[in-house]
Amino acid sequence: MTRPISGLDDVFTYHVQELYYVERRHEDVLEQFVADAHNDALRRALEHHRGETRDQRDRLEDVLDLVDTPAEERERPAFDGVLEEHDRFLETVAVDESTPGTAGDPGNDPNADVDLRDLRILTTAIEIEHLETAGYENAVLLARRLDHPRDIRKPLDRSRKEEDGMGTQLKEVANESAVRKLFTRLTG
Ligand SMILES: [Fe+2]
Repeated sequence: MTRPISGLDDVFTYHVQELYYVERRHEDVLEQFVADAHNDALRRALEHHRGETRDQRDRLEDVLDLVDTPAEERERPAFDGVLEEHDRFLETVAVDESTPGTAGDPGNDPNADVDLRDLRILTTAIEIEHLETAGYENAVLLARRLDHPRDIRKPLDRSRKEEDGMGTQLKEVANESAVRKLFTRLTG
């Protein structure tokens, strides 16, 4: 049975274990997104973040060790929900043959379904980064309140900056010419 939360220390470890769950799952998600992404700029950004995500997972293990808490994952339904919405979207794209440009409609661009998939990978990836950035912001806030030493606060803040930076990088990908062309074609 889960131990009840009784103080700020527990709140902090609860948040860190949630982040640990997210990072562990995010590793698999990025693996899948890198394999599925068609656009070069998008794939490069995701590949880069795959390495950062491994480091972020290791940092969380170190932080949990420093507060004498087992590196256990605590489910984060909000993260699972983002992925569920992502899958639902892709299922809808794949089965709706009446949509112009989807597979099975040879009169339209055969790459349209690939482009729509890329677009959804991009928007889902941005959502994930927002969720992660907020998670680290909260963990840093709690670490400060608890007067945790620098070796606990610093790695969390470093990951926060990386997540925030990745969010910005993904929004820049949306401005790259190949993706801009895609937006134009999908609205045209
Ligand atoms: Fe991330």
